Amino acid sequence: MSFRTLWFADGALHLLDQRGLPARAEVVTVKSAEETARAIREMVVRGAPAIGCAAAYGLALSARAGEDFEKARAALLSARPTAVNLRWALERMAAVRPRAFEALKAEADKILQEDLEACRAIGRHGAALVPEGKGILTHCNAGGLATAGYGTALGVVRAAIAGGKRCDVFAGETRPWLQGARLTAWELLQDGIPVTLLPDVAAASLLSSGKIGCVVVGADRVARNGDTANKVGTYPLALAAQAAAVPLFVAAPLSSIDLRAASGREIPIEERSAEEVTHLLGQRVAPEGVSVFNPAFDVTPARYIAAIVTERGVARPPYQDSLAALAGA
Ligand code: MRU
Repeated sequence: MSFRTLWFADGALHLLDQRGLPARAEVVTVKSAEETARAIREMVVRGAPAIGCAAAYGLALSARAGEDFEKARAALLSARPTAVNLRWALERMAAVRPRAFEALKAEADKILQEDLEACRAIGRHGAALVPEGKGILTHCNAGGLATAGYGTALGVVRAAIAGGKRCDVFAGETRPWLQGARLTAWELLQDGIPVTLLPDVAAASLLSSGKIGCVVVGADRVARNGDTANKVGTYPLALAAQAAAVPLFVAAPLSSIDLRAASGREIPIEERSAEEVTHLLGQRVAPEGVSVFNPAFDVTPARYIAAIVTERGVARPPYQDSLAALAGA
C-alpha cells in the first residue's frame, strides 16, 4: 500500500487524518488516551480494526501520560459503541502485566501486526470466492484506511486482482460521511486499482444489470448467529443483492466477531449528529428545524449473507456453528 493509516513513533501515535481525504493527507499526532479517544470519536481514524489498534496504543499512551488506567480505558471504550474491536483490543490490553508503557506498547504492536496478517489471510480466502470477469461492489471503506493495512473487503479486492482475476470494482459513495467516495476511491486509486463510484441509490439498478458477480463488505460487529452490523446502507444493499441473486460476502477478522451477542438485536447502533445529514461540505441543504434520523450502522440479517470470510477461513450458514468453530469457542 502507498500510505500508512496509523503508526507509533517518537513516543506518540500518528494518524492519517481521514476527515480531510482526499483533498488533504494530513497527520494528527496524539500523546494520551484522552486525545486518542477524541480522535476516534471525531473520525480522524475510523473503521473497526483501525479503531481497535488506535485504542490499544491509546491505552499504552495513558501509562506514559500518567492517566488513570481505568478512566483511560472507559474513555476509549465509549468513544464509539458499535465496532466490537474496540472492546476486544481494550480487553487484551487490560490483561497485560506489568501495566507499564513498554509492555503495553509491545501488546499494541502485536495487535497491529496481527491485524495486518489477518487482512492478508482474509484477502487470500476471499479472493477464491470472487467470480472471474464480473464486477465487485463494495460499500463504505473496509480497506487499508479502516485496518492496520491492506483491508478486509478491499483486501479481498486486492488479493483477487493480484491473483490475476479480471474484475471491475464498484464503490457506493456511502452517504452521509462519504467513506466510499472519499476514502475507498482514494485508496484504490492510490494503489492503481481502477474503481467506479456510484450514488448509493444506484446500487439496486447496478445489481439488477447483471454486471456484478458479488458484493463484499466489512463489518463492525458480527453476532453469534451471523447478523452483521456494518455501515448504514449495507442492509438495503443486501436486500437488493438477494433480489438480483448476487451473493453478499462479509469480510471480517475474528476480532470483529462478538460471540457474546446472540443476534443483531444485541448490537448497539451509534447515532451521529444531525449536521452530517442536514449539511454538505459545511453548507446547510435541509431546512432549519427538520428532525434527523442518522444511524451510523445497520444490521444485515444473517439470512442475506452468503459467507463470512475470516482469517481462519470461510464461514457458511448456519453461522451459529461455523463462526464458533472458526473462533475456537
Ligand atoms: O463509521 P466508520 O467509517 O468507522 O464505519 C466503518 C465501517 O462500517 C466499515 O465497513 C467497518 O468498520 C469494517 S472496516 C474493515
